Amino acid sequence: MAIDFKQDILAPVASDFAAMDTFINEGITSKVALVMAVSKHVVEAGGKRMRPIMCLLAAKACGAEDIERQRKLAAIIEMLHTATLVHDDVVDESGLRRGRPTANATWNNQTAVLVGDFLISRAFDLLVDLNDMTLLKDFSTGTCEIAEGEVLQLQAQHQPETTEKTYLDIIHGKTSRLFELATEGAAILSGTPHYREPLRLFAGHFGNAFQIIDDILDYTSDAETLGKNIGDDLMEGKPTLPLISALQKTTDEEHEIVRLSIATGGLNHLERVIEIVQNCGALDYCRQRATEETQFALQALDALPDSEYRQALVNLTQLALNRIQ
Ligand code: IPE
Ligand code: IPE
Ligand code: MG
Ligand code: MG
Repeated sequence: MAIDFKQDILAPVASDFAAMDTFINEGITSKVALVMAVSKHVVEAGGKRMRPIMCLLAAKACGAEDIERQRKLAAIIEMLHTATLVHDDVVDESGLRRGRPTANATWNNQTAVLVGDFLISRAFDLLVDLNDMTLLKDFSTGTCEIAEGEVLQLQAQHQPETTEKTYLDIIHGKTSRLFELATEGAAILSGTPHYREPLRLFAGHFGNAFQIIDDILDYTSDAETLGKNIGDDLMEGKPTLPLISALQKTTDEEHEIVRLSIATGGLNHLERVIEIVQNCGALDYCRQRATEETQFALQALDALPDSEYRQALVNLTQLALNRIQ
């Protein structure tokens, strides 16, 4: 049966989720009108709110009852996520995000970079209020690794020799790490440090699957569905898994087209590259890898006691995978 987001994922934490959203809006207030306008532009456009939902569900799955602090943490995580998107769209020169023109396209790069910085700083400002040194240290280290992931990706740009191993390092840093923080942070604040490791494994593999799927969708979806333009990765000459795999599965002319597209970027060969990744089995390989990562994620969850919250985490994982099925 198809998974229903509201019923099968959100319902067990619906009231916490609503409170969390209020806290985000308070968090992004600023005495500088432009800071607020830009933050609001991105936050109000929505987004799937997967990281905060995962944080709330993880807290409840750990057995926590009063989760006021975890709610705050969930809001902080969404602020950090929003900041990485605002920065990412500058780096990727992307024009569309969450169905709206990006901050860099609406204002300019300078504004987007500085407001992104504000969002990260405010997130840490609020994190300090939670008064937990373990949590603060975990987030400080983790945020450095997220930045490193994005820099690693920048270095790989236009490099057709990029390996699957490097790709995994990149996506673990830029994407999975924040999912890990969301669930580990929930375990820390819930006083159940023994659930940190299984939750970290769950969220890390979930994040890997999620990013592989996002990278598939960049070749198969459309702007209307995604809320962002497809072809952005090829445009930037990003060696994502569909292309890394295509290079292994093709020879001669097709191999050369993919190699050149990574090396030079641009959209001249978009149609042809889409055809190649589809026909050579590269997308099948990516789907298989995403499915494997999903299975690893679900296995890790077995270490938590059975509950409606753990089940909602399972449903969320399944729903994320369904985006490509
Ligand atoms: C976008 O994340 C960045 C990736 C890791 C692919 P989401 O797809 O969760 O973005 P929103 O928050 O729903 O817009
Ligand atoms: C994910 O990278 C962005 C972050 C995790 C910061 P992408 O560049 O692939 O994400 P989209 O496609 O712009 O959302
Ligand atoms: Mg991007
Ligand atoms: Mg992408």
